[in-house]
Amino acid sequence: MDGQEFVVSYDLIVIGSGPGGYVCAIRAAQLGMKVAVIEKEKTFGGTCLNIGCIPSKALLHASELFEEAGHAFDKMGIKVGAPALDLPAMLKFKDEGVDGNVKGVAFLFRKNKIDTHTGIGRITAPGVVEVKPAHGAATTIEGKAIVIATGSDVARLKGITIDEKRIVSSTGALSLPKVPQHLLVVGAGVIGLELGSVWRRLGAKVMVVEFLDRIVPGIDAELARQFQRTLEKQGVIFKLASKVAAIDAKGAVLKASVEPAAGGETTTVEADVALVAIGRVPHTEGLGLDEIGISLDNRGRIPVDQHFATTAPGVYAIGDVIAGPMLAHKAQDEGIAVAEILAGKAGHVNYDVIPNVIYTMPEVASVGKTEEELKAASVAYNVGKFPFTANGRAKANQQTDGFVKILADAATDRVLGVHIMGSDAGNMIAEAAIAMELGAAAEDLARTCHAHPTLPEAVKEAALAVEKRAIHM
Ligand code: FAD
Ligand code: NAI
Repeated sequence: MDGQEFVVSYDLIVIGSGPGGYVCAIRAAQLGMKVAVIEKEKTFGGTCLNIGCIPSKALLHASELFEEAGHAFDKMGIKVGAPALDLPAMLKFKDEGVDGNVKGVAFLFRKNKIDTHTGIGRITAPGVVEVKPAHGAATTIEGKAIVIATGSDVARLKGITIDEKRIVSSTGALSLPKVPQHLLVVGAGVIGLELGSVWRRLGAKVMVVEFLDRIVPGIDAELARQFQRTLEKQGVIFKLASKVAAIDAKGAVLKASVEPAAGGETTTVEADVALVAIGRVPHTEGLGLDEIGISLDNRGRIPVDQHFATTAPGVYAIGDVIAGPMLAHKAQDEGIAVAEILAGKAGHVNYDVIPNVIYTMPEVASVGKTEEELKAASVAYNVGKFPFTANGRAKANQQTDGFVKILADAATDRVLGVHIMGSDAGNMIAEAAIAMELGAAAEDLARTCHAHPTLPEAVKEAALAVEKRAIHM
């Protein structure tokens, strides 16, 4: 046994403590399993809590208030003068939010009597995991089942080195020591637009270069067009159907070569900081997958069956490392499902109802099918739309950008998709998700009494609009 004295044996070993892994471990412990979690970083919580959802939302929140204080307070009769930015304090506010969250996971592990092992986990045989800490000797633990929840990593651009100082990924962009004068964002996806918004609000001039001829691919096209116009009004410059071919970092200012996606004349864009946000790739390095007979799919993901089982006996996988949207709540629901399946219960994830939120101002939120997807599948549908310009609360708050769009089956009226752009869209989408989970018709939403004056009344009105009977339009 390589000089080790004993092997600890578990019902379940989870590799990775992100939203997928930690939630899976807690649910398994609730169900009576003896559980171990292996995490290679110093803190628990994975990408989401340490360098993803939580720090980005803290900065989005703080920078939004900064912008409101500078531009909206005055007209509400609040005289505070021009706000001054204390960036180190704002970054500290963000770090405190992270700290509270990662400590929360450590507390939950203790509360649920989950053993934790710090180091890189490698599966040496089905049921056997070696844990290699940064210093010292490796240990081996055994488990009846192993769940791989190792998440994802930043996708890189060929020939462009991310130094996390001037050419940054989302991780560097969450901790820039000063506001760049010019920020070049590569990729008009969720990260580019959320973190681009943060730094624009704090004073940067932001240009976003996107390969496709539209922003946020995957989001309903009508919503994406209006979202783009709104961001442009806020000052973001978009260069669509373009790519960054190279970045010259030799001088004091970065010089990026930007060319049309289809090829053509190159222009040079200067920036102090470039944020590369072109997607994320599954993290499987060093796990020993080859040795246990797991081959990756063509996008580097671990293939699993409907019970999250891989091709290796007793080895399961969840979260960003498998197919599906790379979202924390998707990873969490998969974590719960696999724990329940292992306990002999009917764990299940409804992939038709996974909400998606972009936390800009206004927010963009959607669940279910887009119009483009329904057309491609030849599904007949009705559309109900309602703008926030006609919603009493939005008018009172003077936050009228955006609309609610409901897509309902033409034959049955069942809600197939809901798409919202608006100041609180991220909270409003929960109502739509519940409606879809329960198989509601647009009529059900329309007949549900909504409190007045609230923004969700726009959801009710959009549902009424499916049959062209919205009241306030
Ligand atoms: P991860 O959270 O990536 O966790 C994997 C863990 O496994 C990590 O801690 C890693 O250190 C560990 N690990 C990897 N390999 C090993 C190994 N061999 N041994 C031991 N440990 C290992 N999603 C949302 O839903 N909402 C948001 O608002 C949101 N904002 C985001 C903002 C940013 C800037 C980024 C980058 C992502 C954001 N996401 C958001 C996506 C979200 O973070 C991921 O979908 C989520 O973290 C995936 O969870 P996971 O458990 O699969 O993996
Ligand atoms: P993304 O997949 O959302 O967007 C990447 C964008 O970059 C796409 O529009 C793509 O067309 C473009 N692109 C790709 N290659 C390019 C190139 N060479 N030049 C120019 N543009 C290029 O990826 P992003 O923003 O990096 O986020 C990664 C993941 O993290 C997302 O899949 C998302 O699920 C998750 N995330 C979720 C958040 C949320 O839920 N609010 C917030 C942040 C991240």
